[in-house]
Amino acid sequence: MARDHTVLFSADKIAETVSELAVRIDRDHSDDGVVVVVVVLKGAAIFAADLVRAMRTETELAYLTASSYLDGFTPGESMSLRGDLDLDVAGRDVLIVDDIIDTGRTLSELSTLVADRRPRRVATAALVSKTSRRAPDAEPNYHGLEIGDEFIYGYGLDWDERYRDLPFIALASP
Ligand code: IMP
Ligand code: MG
Repeated sequence: MARDHTVLFSADKIAETVSELAVRIDRDHSDDGVVVVVVVLKGAAIFAADLVRAMRTETELAYLTASSYLDGFTPGESMSLRGDLDLDVAGRDVLIVDDIIDTGRTLSELSTLVADRRPRRVATAALVSKTSRRAPDAEPNYHGLEIGDEFIYGYGLDWDERYRDLPFIALASP
C-alpha cells in the first residue's frame, strides 16, 4: 500500500556520500591489499553492496546478523547475534559495516568479536550516525550522514522490517 514518505536523504545524496566514504576508506587502505568487509545484516546489506563496488580496494565479504530492536522502533537492552564469521581474519584488515550507529553498542560488540580473532586491524563504518545517544568511546572510524534522535528507514534500514527496499532514506513520523 502506498504511503507518503518524508525524504530525508535522497538517492543522489546517498550515492554521493557512499562515493566519498569509498575514497576515504581506499586512501587509508592503499597499502593493505585485501580488506575483509563484515556486513551487519540485515540493514547494512544495501549500503555495503554499494560501498564495496565504489571502493577500489579489493574486498572479501563476510556477513553477520545482529539485532537490537525489540519491536522495530525501540532499542532492546542487549544485542542478539546470529551466525559467525566464515572467513579467518587472523592477521588481516577488517572493516565492519553497518547501516547506522546509534548508541554504538552493535559496532562495539562486533569489534570485540572480531578483535578476539587477532586481526591486523579493525575499523568500523556506518552510513548514518545518530549522534545524540552515543557512548563516549564508541565513535565509528567512518561515517557519512548525521542525524539527531530521529527514527529513519529506507536504503536497507527497516521500520519493523518494512521499507528496506526504498532507494532513499525517510524520516518516520510518530
Ligand atoms: P546501536 O547498537 O545502538 O548503535 O544501534 C545500531 C543498530 O540499531 C543498527 O544496526 C540498526 O539496526 C538499528 N537502528 C538504530 N537506529 C535506527 C533507525 O533510525 N532506523 C532503523 N534502524 C535503526
Ligand atoms: Mg542493525
